Amino acid sequence: MTDVRVPHLSANWNYPTAIRAGAGRVRELPSLCFEFGMRAPLLVTDPGLASLPFINNILNLCEENGLRVDMFANIKGNPTGQNVIEGLTVFRTGEHDGILAVGGGSALDAAKAIALMAGQSRPLWDFEDLEDNYLRVNEDAMAPVIAVPTTAGTGSEVGRSSVITDEEAEIKRIIFHPRMLPAQVILDPELTCGLPTNITAATGMDALSHNLEAFCAPSFHPMAEGIALEAMRLISVYLPRVVADGNDLDARMQMLVASSMGATAFQRGLGAMHALAHPLGALFDAHHGLLNAILMPYVLRANESAIGEPMERLARHLDLPNPGFGGVLEWVYQLRLDLGIPNTLQEIGIDGEQAERIGRMAVADAAAASNPVAFDAADYRDIFLNALTGTAPS
Ligand SMILES: [Fe+2]
Repeated sequence: MTDVRVPHLSANWNYPTAIRAGAGRVRELPSLCFEFGMRAPLLVTDPGLASLPFINNILNLCEENGLRVDMFANIKGNPTGQNVIEGLTVFRTGEHDGILAVGGGSALDAAKAIALMAGQSRPLWDFEDLEDNYLRVNEDAMAPVIAVPTTAGTGSEVGRSSVITDEEAEIKRIIFHPRMLPAQVILDPELTCGLPTNITAATGMDALSHNLEAFCAPSFHPMAEGIALEAMRLISVYLPRVVADGNDLDARMQMLVASSMGATAFQRGLGAMHALAHPLGALFDAHHGLLNAILMPYVLRANESAIGEPMERLARHLDLPNPGFGGVLEWVYQLRLDLGIPNTLQEIGIDGEQAERIGRMAVADAAAASNPVAFDAADYRDIFLNALTGTAPS
């Protein structure tokens, strides 16, 4: 007889890191702590989750198994350098020896940055992803991380970087080191079942944007292409299902995997959606996934001349009724509609006053480098303005 707590969608993978996938597997957390030499982990999570029963259950589970565990949850939706420094103080003061990163992209990114900083003597921004700054990191001083995502979108659990807002400079900086890839990941769909519908939709669209931008990036990386293509099929099937029924465990599992696949694939690069979403997130503190979801069709249109071939393949793989670019664009518009995603940036309170600045910030963003078309600042400004008011470019 099948154990209902461990359905057929359960597996252990070692790619791109050690992953335990399956419903209920968060209960393996204490034994994994011991495996990674942790006796006093710091649980880093989002403030919205800190008081939820499942976080309390994790804390109790750890304590019952002889771990000394503490929690840090003072993290903004777009985590800041100050959040990381504060978490680092808690980590050091509590003499912790590892980090349990439990939450959405904000908590995971902040947690990974705190773990990187654990024993460093340099300030955080010295490790920004510029040139070979990552070589400044004392690897032995990094703390181990076990990542448990509670949203399916960011894929940060399998990423080697964190996006942290520099509040003083009003920009998002990427902190990178190859060993920021968490040592262990648990993908447990039970933890994502409580997500509100709008967050499920927005985070799912972030996963789509990762796969879509990676798939369109103009570089030689067939492995990433294959992962992105299949992840987009999973999203096309399962994102509408999780939005229709948040307790559909199989669909929740598939979305968690598609999200991890997105962050695995975007080692190939991202593109203009993220190049614009980063400055907009920094300036307006808007939800990252929602920004990408709104920007998606406007960026696709702007890239149209350069992505005909990959869109042909995507349309075939998704078995869309209309082939090619037009079919994919129709699918994106319909998906956004079905998920209740607004069509314009102004609907989420963004205005055009800083359009020129946003254009300049987008072209300077790391994600711009791998967009299929080398847009300049004026192009980015125009895409932003199209997405602001819903103007379809000619
Ligand atoms: Fe993203």
